[in-house]
Amino acid sequence: MTVKNPLDMHLHLRDNEMLNLVAHLSAKDFKAAVIMPNLVPPICDLQALKEYKQRVVNACNDEDFIPLMTLFYKNYNYNFLQEAREHIFAIKLYPAGVTTNSSSGISSFDIDELKETLEAMSELGLPLLVHGETNDFVMDREANFSKIYEKLAKSFPKLKIVMEHITTKRLCELLKDYENLYATVTLHHLILTLDDVLGGKLKPHLFCKPIAKRYEDKEALCELAFSGYEKLMFGSDSAPHPINDKECCGCAAGVFSAPVALPLLCELFQKHSNEANLQKFLSDNACKIHNLSFKKDKIIKLERNKWQVPSKYGDVVPFMADEFLEFKQNYN
Ligand code: NCD
Ligand code: ZN
Repeated sequence: MTVKNPLDMHLHLRDNEMLNLVAHLSAKDFKAAVIMPNLVPPICDLQALKEYKQRVVNACNDEDFIPLMTLFYKNYNYNFLQEAREHIFAIKLYPAGVTTNSSSGISSFDIDELKETLEAMSELGLPLLVHGETNDFVMDREANFSKIYEKLAKSFPKLKIVMEHITTKRLCELLKDYENLYATVTLHHLILTLDDVLGGKLKPHLFCKPIAKRYEDKEALCELAFSGYEKLMFGSDSAPHPINDKECCGCAAGVFSAPVALPLLCELFQKHSNEANLQKFLSDNACKIHNLSFKKDKIIKLERNKWQVPSKYGDVVPFMADEFLEFKQNYN
């Protein structure tokens, strides 16, 4: 199979040593990626954003790869956003405390409090990317957040709202109800259910937010993705953590899937769909939704060529470590 300009619409590259370890793996497989701002401290001003972007570019060491930068949501005003616009792709909103490095996220979804920023973003055409989870019982967090998505979609009809890494049938349905709601889905949520994470022995490397859900949720996600549904985009949510932060008491949330994303998606679409829908899911849908175009195309070939996923990349255990995959990238 061949993919033109594959895009990762949700990627954690971290900083410093980790950035240098993982960035080039995404840069060689993807034309562009949306880079998450949940560093410590989070990226909330333009100086920090520009400096981080430069470190990302240096670490990727690939002129052809485009990092699409994001700011961590705060109640920004119009003037700031107008200045920020040319440097950023979108703004990422985290509810306080729901996932890794989100403690300074927002604690109220009162429309009056969000109005100034979200109206400015609507006017400036800046998309809002949302980590949609409440603080309820873990299996209900995403579905319960649908009330907030509806409130946002209705209150800001011109705002492009992306429901990030959706994991439930509920959000698959919601996506069809509001014109201004879009979504990303990860690779691992097309493969895993909660059973895989903790139904047998506990698998810390499969633990992530949002947690993988029920079989029927996974089926709903697969149905949308494999049909090439136009409002759904691929976002790996590849989120590397050092092995000591995963294999310990108090395991960090995040699955490091970047190096296996294209081979596994190719395998899934080859089995359950086709090349045309893979192209939509990996690139065309996002290009249409976000008006993206590229001066130079990047074509990635995936060939039947069995290989074994390494046990580790540095001190990070990848998704499918030690497993054999059927397809491999051919970079020549
Ligand atoms: C992400 C991380 O590690 O930064 N973790 C995760 O489980 N997905 C944060 C996030 O996207 O929720
Ligand atoms: Zn994420």
